Amino acid sequence: MIEANLTDNRLLASWTYQSSELLKIEHESLFHRHWLLVGHISQFRNPGDYQTMDVGGERSIVIRGQSGELRAFHNVCIHRGSRIVESSSGNCSGAIVCPFHGWTYHLDGRLKSVPRKAEFANLDIDTESLSSIECEIWCGFVFIRFKSVGHSLAEELAPVYDLVQPYKLTEVQPLGPASRSIIEANWKTFHDVDNEGYHVPAAHPSLQELYGRDYCDDFIGDIPLSTGTVDDYTARQWSVYHYKKILPEYSYLPHENRRLWMYISLFPNLVMFFYPEKVGFYASLPLAVDRTLIIEQEYGLLDTSRATQAVRYLSRRIDTLTGEEDKKLVDWMREAVLTSVYPRSSYGRLESGVIQFHNRLRAAIPLMRAETNPPNYMFREAEQSLNSGPPK
Ligand code: FES
Ligand SMILES: [Fe+2]
Repeated sequence: MIEANLTDNRLLASWTYQSSELLKIEHESLFHRHWLLVGHISQFRNPGDYQTMDVGGERSIVIRGQSGELRAFHNVCIHRGSRIVESSSGNCSGAIVCPFHGWTYHLDGRLKSVPRKAEFANLDIDTESLSSIECEIWCGFVFIRFKSVGHSLAEELAPVYDLVQPYKLTEVQPLGPASRSIIEANWKTFHDVDNEGYHVPAAHPSLQELYGRDYCDDFIGDIPLSTGTVDDYTARQWSVYHYKKILPEYSYLPHENRRLWMYISLFPNLVMFFYPEKVGFYASLPLAVDRTLIIEQEYGLLDTSRATQAVRYLSRRIDTLTGEEDKKLVDWMREAVLTSVYPRSSYGRLESGVIQFHNRLRAAIPLMRAETNPPNYMFREAEQSLNSGPPK
């Protein structure tokens, strides 16, 4: 039935934004089986520095060991399953102590000690350890993958590797704490708005004045790549006017990157951005079918010059304005899929990022090709085939 209803030239059907059953499969098939960005090596400077991330019932911790190696584990104590650390980031000096009963782990995940060990007759401390998760570093950025399937991160991002080399990504550090905000919409709605630049002239006056004249959405392989060059026209928007005026010539960047804003997306939930004065990312994590956590983080090279401080402030202001404008669009799209006349075919070539996203979703989860909400047994079958068959 699903195969007969192929809808690959249309946008996803409305039910896919409203189904909690589908969200379970999205977690399992997308968020647990694709690379997820956790942070940057600069956020793990010392042994014991850690970051956590939860998604779809799974909990992770990435932590730097005594030898300097970064490792990822399930943030699940092997005793009774408590979180071994509570905060989203911090430092465990010397050892990780589970807050429930005090089982203690070395920073490399091996069990170190157990209070009243004699009460656990069959426990061999020397052979027990936290459950590992795959962890890979790409150009200084730290990613995890809960289920090890498919390409390595390096293979997946190879098409854009050369593009990001000028930005000295292993040397950047956070420009402030990560921003975590919640939108009351399905996670895909956030990306549907974000995955095309056709709306920039109408919806984002600041971005339009900044780089709208040559803004372009493209792909390298199946990786979406968007670029816009900061032009020399006088802007009316205060932030854009001053940004254009103050933007320094960063001599370590090639000429073509010195006024370039570039965005690279990694399926399913990540956008990395590269501006002359800073880099960063934003990512979505679904909390419920109609509730999504958006995490954003900026990084930059150490540069205390007034000009760099000023353009970093101004580009943040432009991004904040743009984010507010997008929030409204996300809300309207959230409402749109609830109407009986939600249009699914009238998209143009400038919106190819949206249909590519939907086609990748349908390729990963064939159930999403259905025109109407499938019966429950089909979700159960899809879940079973994910857990038993070869990973998709
Ligand atoms: S659950 Fe961690 S020590 Fe008991
Ligand atoms: Fe936008």
